[in-house]
Amino acid sequence: MHDDRERFLIRYAREFAPFIVSRARGAWIETSDGKRILDFTSGQICATIGHNHPRIVAAVEQALTEVIHLNSWMLSEPVLALAERLTSLLPSPLDKVILLNTGGEANEVALRLAKMHTGRFEVVGLTRSWHGLQAGAASLNLAGGHAGYGPLMPGSLTIPAPYAYRCPIRHCDGACDCTCLEAGFETIDQQSVGSLCAVIAEPVLSAGGVIVPPAGYFERLRELCDERGMLLIFDEAQTGFGRLGAMFGFELYGVVPDILTVSKTLGGGIPLAATFTSQAIEADCYRKGFMHVTSHVADPMPAAAGLALVQVIEEDCLVEQARKRGEYLVARLEELQERHEQIGDVRGKGLLVGVELVEDRGTRKAADVLGAAVCDECLRCGLSMNIVRSSGGMLNCFRIAPPLSVTEEEIDTAVGIMDEALTSMAAVVGQGSLQ
Ligand SMILES: Cc1ncc(COP(=O)(O)O)c(C=O)c1O
Repeated sequence: MHDDRERFLIRYAREFAPFIVSRARGAWIETSDGKRILDFTSGQICATIGHNHPRIVAAVEQALTEVIHLNSWMLSEPVLALAERLTSLLPSPLDKVILLNTGGEANEVALRLAKMHTGRFEVVGLTRSWHGLQAGAASLNLAGGHAGYGPLMPGSLTIPAPYAYRCPIRHCDGACDCTCLEAGFETIDQQSVGSLCAVIAEPVLSAGGVIVPPAGYFERLRELCDERGMLLIFDEAQTGFGRLGAMFGFELYGVVPDILTVSKTLGGGIPLAATFTSQAIEADCYRKGFMHVTSHVADPMPAAAGLALVQVIEEDCLVEQARKRGEYLVARLEELQERHEQIGDVRGKGLLVGVELVEDRGTRKAADVLGAAVCDECLRCGLSMNIVRSSGGMLNCFRIAPPLSVTEEEIDTAVGIMDEALTSMAAVVGQGSLQ
């Protein structure tokens, strides 16, 4: 089996997992040799209501008997129903939507709308962000991955992320006061060629280490955008549909963007994304000839899955549940922090939580060897977690994002596995055998 993988598949990231998955249900995946693993990454953060939720399965089955795919100018009932449902969840002016497939694509559409509407092309991203691998979105990926693919999109500009635990401008310590934002915009103004178009930001910077901007950050960002005639784009690929304990992340900050993108968390595991904007921006772009015709724009089958997902989130009160389970998860992780010196920081919102490992709480030197060892040991003991980069590209931050339907017992099981893995791997790393 391993040989086959080497022979036929293009390797697109690190090496493949050392097992084959044969089944997935709720917060669990099962391997072909019968092992059960708790999935605290929700797949790629997409199994929002658990793997293979029966309502997603039923919606897809129904679409399979009715209509899967259409020419892009033809619409279907699931698409109309989902468009109406989604826009009714959002405040004005986010009244118009286009249904797409992936997060990168949704951001690409956001950027194309912003550029066409403003007639400008400079787009500002935050360091430590991730927005997808299409050329425009990828140019604003600042959590890494640029080397080897040639130039970025002209006009890609950057401000430092409000990473309070490791302040990028060495100013704050633990509580960001937004000086990085002011300093960042001074730099932007000096770099700009007079074509400032938009800022794109995640409400919580996930791939960059689960960085939670402080209260007031996005309000000030909104002002800075407005002063310059720039649009504000929120990328809610990971934060939309309840993950942060609110239906959308921006609700927690009281700031409504001009353009909103959602993706991963919308399809319940089926590829589905959406970009929203105002009637005014949509009308202006349509008048100017806006075009985004792709093979699977507005496809009925994924729309049916999205509709089912929203219904389940509402009927099962999963937004409120994510908030409560998130508090429980953080409390359990803070208990671990009291006993494990190597846990430098626990942070997050709702069920998107980061745990940063350090060699020493004083110096905050990233414990990447330990991080990798704990991650591998957790997997061996039945817990799958992501490890993402924090300072200096070090892989030392666990990103924990179980399905919103996770139970307290499952959280207890996961925290127990982490506890044992931290104890055993700290001993091994301490002896130098993993160095
Ligand atoms: C915040 C954010 N935006 C966009 C993307 C890209 O989404 P996709 O991989 O579906 O293109 C990701 C993927 O990790 C993401 O985390």
